[in-house]
Amino acid sequence: MSLDGDTLSVIENPVAVSHPFHSEKTAGVAGAKGVQGWLKGFQSTTQVKLLLRPSSSQSPVGLGDTKETSFCNVTEDISVSDSRKVFYRISPENSLLEIQLGKLPTWLPVCYERWNSSLGTLVCRQLGYLRLTKHKGVNLTDIGPNYTDGFIQITSEQKSSLENMWQFRRSCITGKVIALQCFECGTRAKLPRIIGGVEATLGRWPWQVSLYYSNRHTCGGSIITSQWVVTAAHCVHNYRLPQISSWVVYAGIVTRSSAKTAQHAGYAVEKIIYNKNYNHRTHDSDIALMKLRTPFNFSDTIRPICLPQHDYDLPGGTQCWISGWGYTQPDGVHSPDTLKEAPVPIISTKKCNSSCMYNGEITARMLCAGYTEGKVDACQGDSGGPLVCQDDNVWRLVGVVSWGTGCAEPNHPGVYTKVAKFLGWIYEMIENY
Ligand code: ARG
Repeated sequence: MSLDGDTLSVIENPVAVSHPFHSEKTAGVAGAKGVQGWLKGFQSTTQVKLLLRPSSSQSPVGLGDTKETSFCNVTEDISVSDSRKVFYRISPENSLLEIQLGKLPTWLPVCYERWNSSLGTLVCRQLGYLRLTKHKGVNLTDIGPNYTDGFIQITSEQKSSLENMWQFRRSCITGKVIALQCFECGTRAKLPRIIGGVEATLGRWPWQVSLYYSNRHTCGGSIITSQWVVTAAHCVHNYRLPQISSWVVYAGIVTRSSAKTAQHAGYAVEKIIYNKNYNHRTHDSDIALMKLRTPFNFSDTIRPICLPQHDYDLPGGTQCWISGWGYTQPDGVHSPDTLKEAPVPIISTKKCNSSCMYNGEITARMLCAGYTEGKVDACQGDSGGPLVCQDDNVWRLVGVVSWGTGCAEPNHPGVYTKVAKFLGWIYEMIENY
């Protein structure tokens, strides 16, 4: 099955008769309920996996300051300080845009009046989707009697920010509400799997790519659109433009040995853009984008990942996942043939910046994930690859593997580029290049 980047079919319940985009659905795409149920079952049965196994000689290093040591062992306070005032969602049943205004307890549909596609793009991006794919006004009479609590309407005044655009209304003048579809991302197909292994199976991380430079696996990367891959700036900044032809992006594979076969010929690179604030000494702003010469052929094994939601930080302790072909031993020198995966919890920046961890080295554009005791981590060769977390039933690219002191050492968790800080930059680059 091959789907175009801009015209992905909906992953929704295929029997929802009143669905506004129903007629355009493509057969063969898993139903949303199936995908979600499958994911849930999957995660609860998946055992802890190590990307990196510590060598037996490795033992926790002694720490001088007992106060700091005890702070390092404190479990994360998982209470979220969520500063958002307006919440958005798209109903999986009927694609209606629904909004929850801070004080109101319910999700309400949005009146069609004053709606336009640029607002649609803003709402999609707020939710971590790169763009709007479809939108339309749906007659209230066509969606049944479910919505009786009122509506959200776009205010008539010009507002500077999206969150101030909405007000409560008893009814919609047009008698229509907004149905919306954003660029599809962050879902996996239902595929066969191995339980309890450390090796990933095909299709489990369909956004994961291997970036080859001069015929060698050099870094990981993540697919965000049919033509763009996110990676780390440190993976690409040393290389000069004339050598752009030395880069090849391999997608839809789990074993590197399958990369060179005719089936997976790899994708040539047209452009490499690294963030101009990248600081090679501090690793600040360690993010880059690669544009392919020809678009990916999306399938069950090649799919894009969503971006994080705007204005929302995951709390310390949130379970996320890393994947990559990097070293599996801290002192190792060779990368595994098969893609590895491991669960790693987010570590709050407060904890990660404490003197027992990175002592102030973590900037606002970085985040930490891993374990105080070490043992599970990304390592050399995983750089540029994804740190993903599942939220709202989609997987999001929360971090890019960037740096760490050693690999899997106690009190030195992996440090990742915080993708949420670069959303504006990503949109701008993708629109203009
Ligand atoms: N810089 C490394 C690379 O180029 C990745 C380091 C990640 N290290 C860690 N301990 N998490 O592959």
